[in-house]
Amino acid sequence: MKLNKEEKRSLISLANEARRRAYAPYSNYRVGAALRTKSGRIYTGVNIESAAYPTTICAERVAVYKAVSEGELDFDVIAVVTENGGSPCGSCRQALAEFGLKTLVLLADGKENLVKEMTVADLLPEAFTPDKMKK
Ligand code: THU
Repeated sequence: MKLNKEEKRSLISLANEARRRAYAPYSNYRVGAALRTKSGRIYTGVNIESAAYPTTICAERVAVYKAVSEGELDFDVIAVVTENGGSPCGSCRQALAEFGLKTLVLLADGKENLVKEMTVADLLPEAFTPDKMKK
């Protein structure tokens, strides 16, 4: 998936705007995501923490699950914004891999600088994907 600079900038900006709605009173590590599907729709997500810590969910998975719950299974690109351009956790990598290893991942910092970009395949080598379930 090839994106021009403006498309990247705009997706990162949406992720950063969503990030303001992060519910992260325990870690104070606020994360925003914006996922664009092949149909052109954009689903945002934020991390949502819980006083029962393991109940917390990451921004990336919120965006993925919002899309899937609306019947959107084909993704082009996800932008993830954190203060320091941190990369997705293992669970989020797995959740993204379920829907395609080619999805582009843009990592940006709180100033909306694109820090790194890669595919889900880069993030999760030797991924366990739905085709591996076939007998
Ligand atoms: N977090 C995300 O939202 N995405 C990631 O990929 C890494 C971690 C959140 C979970 C938790 O609310 C906070 O960041 C600190 O781990």
